[in-house]
Amino acid sequence: MKKYAIILAAGKGTRMKTELPKCAYPLLKKPMIAYIVENLYKSTVIDELITVVGHKKEIIQEILSSRVSYAVQEEQLGTGHAVLMAKDLIKEDGFTIILPGDMPLIDETVITNAVSYHESNKNDLTVVSTVLDDPEGYGRIIKSESQLQAIVEEKDATEEQKQIKEINTGIYIVDNQLLFDALDKISNNNAQHEYYLTDIVKILKNDKKVIATYTLKKSYKAMGINDLYALSQAEAILRHEINKKIMKSGVAMINPDTITIGDNVRIEENVTISPNCFITGNSIIKKNTKIGPSTEIHNSIIGENVSIKHSLVFNSEVKENTTIGPFAHLRDGAIVGPNNRIGNFVEIKKTSTGNLFKASHLAYLGDAEIGDNVNFGCGSITVNYDGTNKYKTTIGDDVFVGCNSNLIAPIVIEDNSTIAAGSTLNKNVPKDSLAIARSYQVNKENYFKNNKNGHKK
Ligand code: UD1
Ligand code: CA
Repeated sequence: MKKYAIILAAGKGTRMKTELPKCAYPLLKKPMIAYIVENLYKSTVIDELITVVGHKKEIIQEILSSRVSYAVQEEQLGTGHAVLMAKDLIKEDGFTIILPGDMPLIDETVITNAVSYHESNKNDLTVVSTVLDDPEGYGRIIKSESQLQAIVEEKDATEEQKQIKEINTGIYIVDNQLLFDALDKISNNNAQHEYYLTDIVKILKNDKKVIATYTLKKSYKAMGINDLYALSQAEAILRHEINKKIMKSGVAMINPDTITIGDNVRIEENVTISPNCFITGNSIIKKNTKIGPSTEIHNSIIGENVSIKHSLVFNSEVKENTTIGPFAHLRDGAIVGPNNRIGNFVEIKKTSTGNLFKASHLAYLGDAEIGDNVNFGCGSITVNYDGTNKYKTTIGDDVFVGCNSNLIAPIVIEDNSTIAAGSTLNKNVPKDSLAIARSYQVNKENYFKNNKNGHKK
């Protein structure tokens, strides 16, 4: 008995009215299909996971890479036809759970409970249904004496059927053999001229198989995303759920409706997050840290007792007791050391800094390795790019870089040296030295008095 899962993700998402294939759309910066795959794995009830791809399949395949195997549906002829494309990959007896790829709020508990309901009742087919106040757009569950008979799509439904509030979530658990036998019998004789997966219900009913619904109580989890408005609603629900969980674990949020935290983010206790923050990807925020306002952090690790205001931190790390911002930008593997001060309009890329580094204002550090106790003056930059290649700047310990210096890489500034303000250096600086690379100041006295063309009379 093998347990398979098939996720349907070949559709265009015509109702989204945009370019990206629907299932690749992100919620809280993570593609909706990734939620479904992760939750299927978390449920641990599945042995093998297959995704049906078609429209712009490369995009979906790049997101999921080798986490699943793929069946290809070249032409999108309907959900029933999509499942049929996976037939060759379902080699053994057992059952398959089928899920639409546009249902990101479905979680592992729903999957686990539905599967155990299916198994304990020895069903041939279980359809996961739910009850909605506004069922518009969904397939309706047709029952007679509480027994499942069929599913009718909105577009094929009679006025009377449209009044039914129990809907098809699009999740089915079905015996493999019966599934493909039934799929061989479906036709596209319906309003959308598609091969509907939902038609297997009446086929199996006619064959007197054991079919039933499993009704999901928390109906919002079954939300199907068909357009950008639904996407925003699902995102709002997810945001609220995540924030609630995080606040209950000891994280303070000021105006949480303006705060977005991704579901893979870990935040330790006694952290405070101010308004307008986005913390996404695989970020970790350690204890006693203050984030925001207006800060974006993606795939980054922020140490204990750090403060980050009005700043961007992408794919980077900030160590303990450091302050970042306002208006700093850390990116592409910046590793900012402990007890640092990274201030206004400072950009740091692919650079590591030691203990007690300071760049308080207006600086650029790219491709640099910096020791302990270094002060990088206002307006100073590493000149790391010659138009073709990038080069490294190495700065030792106890170095003072005066304001407005250009360090033309590759360059090494050794320990305990000082760079005079306004220097443009293209040679290494040995330790304990003062480097000055600028022209001497000349004062022309009485210049205006003697010069009739001077701008002062
Ligand atoms: C489907 C169900 C409907 C249910 C709803 C739940 C059918 C006929 N209808 O309708 O009963 O209430 O989901 O959200 O199944 N797809 C393919 N290939 C295709 C067509 C679709 O892979 O040829 C994929 C889509 O990418 C999508 C999923 O299947 O992820 C569902 O398709 P969609 O068009 O959104 O179905 P609905 O109209 O929402
Ligand atoms: Ca849908």
